[in-house]
Amino acid sequence: MDTVQKLSGQTRFLHWVVALGMIMMLASGIYMHETKAYGLYFWHKSFGVLLIAFVLWRIYWRLKNGWPQPVRPLKNYEAILSRSVHWLLIVGTILMPISGMMMSGLGGHGVPFFGIELIARNPDPADPQKVIALNATFAGIGKTLHGVGGTLIIAAVLLHFAAALKHHFVDQDSTLSRMLGRHRSR
Ligand code: HEM
Ligand code: HEM
Repeated sequence: MDTVQKLSGQTRFLHWVVALGMIMMLASGIYMHETKAYGLYFWHKSFGVLLIAFVLWRIYWRLKNGWPQPVRPLKNYEAILSRSVHWLLIVGTILMPISGMMMSGLGGHGVPFFGIELIARNPDPADPQKVIALNATFAGIGKTLHGVGGTLIIAAVLLHFAAALKHHFVDQDSTLSRMLGRHRSR
């Protein structure tokens, strides 16, 4: 279990696996969207589906263990800001893969999971290069959520990263060291 002095191995492991996974997914998603690098779609989708397992494990652990307590009493605005950003990040980690699966799966493009076809592509018999959506409305909702959600999460991650640096270099407290599993006197 987490304490004020030390975060459990499970909290740290899950934070860094999901954080690095999300950063890679955000970067590859933007790159794909901008350049239409179709070779990356298979990997973006497969790793996105894989990340769900770690995200669900993390949410289970968060519910069981509670949120980490701050290393020092926070001012009111700091507490509200940090709690809101943490919520946005954790909700984003589940919303992004689900909206991606809605967009691709219900859009008829298919969802691969490495060698396994989770949702098959639905080619148009008249022109097999094209696909027919299984449910165009929900695929459209998924696409909007994936685009808007991605932008919101990038903003939240930047704020979160800046806050981690502020704790470490300006406040000189142990918030970042604790997440890295290192010790600092205050
Ligand atoms: C796990 C977390 C995920 C993150 C953080 C993420 C992030 C992103 C971002 C930021 C974009 C660019 C969106 C835009 O600018 O409109 C994108 C594009 C895309 N994502 Fe994801 N994604 C995730 C999972 C998935 C999954 C599981 C799938 C499908 C199974 C998927 C399918 C796609 C596709 C097909 C595109 C390209 C859309 C286009 O060409 O405009 N994503 N992703
Ligand atoms: C860019 C690198 C990152 C750094 C340096 C960083 C650092 C930290 C630190 C120091 C904490 C502890 C805050 C506290 O004790 O109150 C924390 C917590 C948290 N971080 Fe990050 N983080 C990073 C990326 C991310 C990303 C990409 C996500 C998710 C998309 C994320 C989600 C969270 C969440 C939800 C918490 C709350 C505690 C928990 O659930 O484990 N972080 N982060």
